[in-house]
Amino acid sequence: MTTTGSAASSSDRRPQPTAPARTRRRSRLLGGTAVLAAAIAGWTWAGPRPAPVEHKVDVTARSFAFEPAVLRVNAGDRVTLRLRSADVVHGFHLEGYDLDATVYPLRREFEVRRNGGREQVEAVTFTAERAGKYRYRCSVTCGAMHPFMSGELIVEPNRTWRAAVAAAVAVTLVAAVLVRNGQHGA
Ligand code: CUA
Repeated sequence: MTTTGSAASSSDRRPQPTAPARTRRRSRLLGGTAVLAAAIAGWTWAGPRPAPVEHKVDVTARSFAFEPAVLRVNAGDRVTLRLRSADVVHGFHLEGYDLDATVYPLRREFEVRRNGGREQVEAVTFTAERAGKYRYRCSVTCGAMHPFMSGELIVEPNRTWRAAVAAAVAVTLVAAVLVRNGQHGA
């Protein structure tokens, strides 16, 4: 921090801007920040409004993969899965959702275990509440590559999350400009 002193003394020798120039620069900075904040607010609120959607997806288990391997939804969406097996008995365990199923070949019904119970169903529905990535993997030993039989549910963040990020960025920008101005004004 010894360089701070020399930097300060060298800047002292620089011609100081006149008071009106400082004021102009300050108002330009504040104006720029306001425009940026408005743009961020616009991006937050004018973006496409993702109303909750119902997804009906046929998931086929086949040694040793799931089709589709990636499910992409928005937070708040309802997801209905119809699980099928194209060859042998497979499992379907969705991490973070207390959902586990056993899928039998050539059968429309599969067994779902959740909330401590088990039932035979043709479809299972849940709400993708939290944004994040949730792995689904086979939970029935089905062969050599069983440990690698998995897919991924990607839950995109909703607008609330977007607004929080935008607000944090805007506050940081304004704070940075105020600190800068404080240093220049001193
Ligand atoms: Cu499929 Cu284990």
